[in-house]
Order: sequence, then C-alpha cells, then structure tokens
Amino acid sequence: MKNETKQKHPANTLVILGTGGTIAGRAPLASDNVGYVAGQVGIGDLVAAVPTLNDLALDVEQVVQIDSKDMGFSVWKTLLARVAFHLERPDVTSIVITHGTDTLEETAFFLQTVLRPSKPVVMTCAMRPSTALMPDGPQNLHDAVVVARHTGAQGVVVVCAGSIHSAIDVTKMHTYQVDAFDSGDAGPLGRVEQGEVRLFRNWPTACEAGPFHTVACQQIESVGNLPYVALLTSHADADGNVVRALSSYFLAHPEHPLCGIVVAGTGNGTVHGRLETALCEAQALGIRVVRTSRCARGRVLTHSKQLLSEVSSLSPVKARIALALDLLAESAINEQTNSLPA
Ligand code: SIN
Repeated sequence: MKNETKQKHPANTLVILGTGGTIAGRAPLASDNVGYVAGQVGIGDLVAAVPTLNDLALDVEQVVQIDSKDMGFSVWKTLLARVAFHLERPDVTSIVITHGTDTLEETAFFLQTVLRPSKPVVMTCAMRPSTALMPDGPQNLHDAVVVARHTGAQGVVVVCAGSIHSAIDVTKMHTYQVDAFDSGDAGPLGRVEQGEVRLFRNWPTACEAGPFHTVACQQIESVGNLPYVALLTSHADADGNVVRALSSYFLAHPEHPLCGIVVAGTGNGTVHGRLETALCEAQALGIRVVRTSRCARGRVLTHSKQLLSEVSSLSPVKARIALALDLLAESAINEQTNSLPA
C-alpha cells in the first residue's frame, strides 16, 4: 500500500484511494479499448493526469491494484478499513475511490450498507483504458472530485459520464459505452455539469442501506469470510440439480456451510417450478432463500401463498451481499444471546 501526501491542509483534505480497474488500464495500442490490462497505472499517476486537481490538498493512496472482476471479501475488508480510517480523520472532508466498472455497484453497496457515511465517499471509474485516444477516466475523476467537494454531499455515490448515482440503485448496464451506469426506476441523484452539481434528489442518508441489521465495521474485520450465499438464476428449462448439488456439497463440508441462496427470478421474482421445489428443500434444511428479479427495472411485489416468501427488491448481486451481511449480523446476535448468563 503506497501513501502519497500532497500539500497537507489540516482542515480540508480530500483522500483519493486507488483500487485498479480500466481507469488504471493500459493497452498496447491507443486505438484499443478492449485488449487492455486493467489495474496497471498507479493512483498517483492517474491523479497527476488531471491538472484541475493540482492545487487541492490531497492524500493519495493505492489500496489494491486489481481488475474488479476479481473483487472479493478480502479486498472489501482492506478497503473498508482504509475508508473507515480516513472518514474518522477530522481533517478529511471526503473520499474518492477509483474502481473497475465490473463490480463497482457491489463495492459501492457494501460500503454504503456497512459504513452509512455522513461524509461523501465518491466512487468513479472508466470504460476506456488510460492509454485510449479519448480516455474517459480523467474527466470522471475530475467530476468525482467536484461531487466530493460539493457542500452537503454525503453517503456512497458513483460518478460516471457526468451522472451521479446512489450506491443502492446503481447498476452497470452497458458492456462498452462510456455512459455505462443507470439507476433504474429511481434515476440518477444528479449530474455534474461544467464543474457544478445539479441535484435531482437527496443524497443517500444513513437509513438508505435498506432494512438490514447494522453490521459494525469491527464485526467485518473479525471474520475471514462472509457467510456463503450462492446466486442462481431461474430460466427456461431450469431444474433443481444445481441446488441439490450445492446442498449436498456443503452438507459434506460443514466447515463451509451454504447459508443462503439468492435466486434471480423471472419477471416479478417467479421461479421455475422444478427449481422452486429444490429451493423449498434447501429452505427446509435451514438455508435462507431470497427471491429477486432478473429484470433491470421494477421491484418484486409479493402476494400470499408463495412458497418462497422472502424477497428483495435489490438487484441479484446486491441482494447476495445484503443477505450475507444480514446472516453475519444474525450470527453475531445469536452469539451474544448464547453468551448471556442463563
Ligand atoms: C474492471 O472492472 O476492473 C475492468 C473493467 C472496467 O473497469 O471497466
């Protein structure tokens, strides 16, 4: 982990954390926006490439240098610790994080859900590598800093292609275009226009992490892994084989229990009958099953007489994180209860 401090201003420091991604990617040819390697350029160089940041009081730190397709709990733990550390500093007003686009929405959701910060934590990215003819990273980084310094900004947000998205709603929607993110029905929080923020709705507040148990940072720090939650999809011809194979594998490995399954259902969270039967069997074994939807928009609406009654209106990948955090919080509550004197 490299830490560079530029111009220390005691009361007004902006921290920029680098984690890799296409924004830090390099390709052999400037015309190549696909055949690059992500996570190559250090955060110090990315910041130096944006002249508008020159006069700001910045602390710049490389937390990891990865392609975000390989994101996982161990990196989240490290990042969470660094973000929490800097948020605690009275001289730090805001944090910007550069990140790959592929799992950006998952990291943003994780940080918002666990930290619920009252200072702004602004995540940004790029769809083109730093070596591109027209890289989008420098503008995105500039815009992210504009948002981070905006009076009243708070919570974890994502800035890309001039739009500001909340961590809860944002989803990557396009494989290639620079304007790759969308906030579904909720729409973006606002836009960055010519160095100014135009806000459409309120910044994420502490309660905007959904109806989950609060998982304290210290609890995350003390565990090696999140409770294991599998993510499956319902589709034409779906059956129960994967669920039964998963259940029997994990029954044979009690040291790594299968704690939950999120199923990305069709339409309003409906599940193929054969898959539903197997999921009910898993539920009877004590595995928590949560239904969500494959649809990019809308929320799952419940009605009575559904066999799998637990639903989430989050995207499937975010519902997986939410369930894992919920299971972690529940296990801590159970441990506390069990340790109470009888
Ligand atoms: C990554 O997610 O790290 C690579 C892809 C990207 O940033 O666009």
